[in-house]
Amino acid sequence: MSQSATIRKKPTLRVKIISMGSAESGKSCIIKRYCEKRFVNKYLATIGIDYGVTKVTLKDRDIKVNIFDMAGHQLFYEVRNEFYKDTQGAILVYDVSDRASFEALDFWMEELSNEIGNKAEIDSIVVCVCANKTDLRRQVDVSEGQLWADAHGFHFFETSALSGEGVNEMFQALFEGVVKTCENGGKREPMATQLGYTKEQIDAIQRLKNARNDYERLGLAPGASKDDVNKSYRKLAVLLHPDKSVAPGSEEAFKLLVAARTSLLKKC
Ligand code: GTP
Ligand code: MG
Repeated sequence: MSQSATIRKKPTLRVKIISMGSAESGKSCIIKRYCEKRFVNKYLATIGIDYGVTKVTLKDRDIKVNIFDMAGHQLFYEVRNEFYKDTQGAILVYDVSDRASFEALDFWMEELSNEIGNKAEIDSIVVCVCANKTDLRRQVDVSEGQLWADAHGFHFFETSALSGEGVNEMFQALFEGVVKTCENGGKREPMATQLGYTKEQIDAIQRLKNARNDYERLGLAPGASKDDVNKSYRKLAVLLHPDKSVAPGSEEAFKLLVAARTSLLKKC
């Protein structure tokens, strides 16, 4: 046996990454920020598909990453639908300042599922949800995005291609996830749930914050009785008490709840 043990490097891994998400959500800018360390302010819509290659090293492994940056415009469906197959990782981007792009996430998952078809292949794709443009005034709260990602077993990152926030961390998690999945024979590791709160709590917080009047805040019809007010108050108070609830926005929502109950009881 040879005295000097040879340390063999693992062979280079080739992976395919795609970007998905509404037009103008910032897919190309996130990729540029990562690969070229710069931000492009002007909107240059991707025409069909952009392709690029980058190399990364994770632990003792070289990885050749093929990035297929898709166009978000529906106009380009016929081009991008060719590129879903044989994907190991995806960034699924929405723009926190544009609620419609968040609401479109289900559409993108449907398109991906329809194009790939095979459930085992779909489930093996490591997905990072990017809540992008955090530098702008937001229409989508962190908790909503986190909850959506969590429900799908996806990673979640808040990013800004403009400032660079979260972009490297997101790609690092994506590559690590893809390598682990490849080493695991194509089986994606289950994601640990990061939340300590429920969708019911988030929905209640959103309603308390966005309702047009106090009846709506308590989920009641105008003219509800004293009993109804107290019943609804108790239910929501248990759900959102800041001593118990870790859902973001609980404290503010709880104050709104108390104020709504006080004002409605005066009317009963
Ligand atoms: P399609 O290729 O049409 O699907 O769009 P896309 O998702 O690739 O969007 P793109 O990266 O081209 O960015 C769209 C616009 O948003 C551009 O004007 C960017 O400068 C801007 N943008 C992207 N990311 C950010 C960000 O984090 N913050 C701000 N303020 N603007 C951003
Ligand atoms: Mg683009």
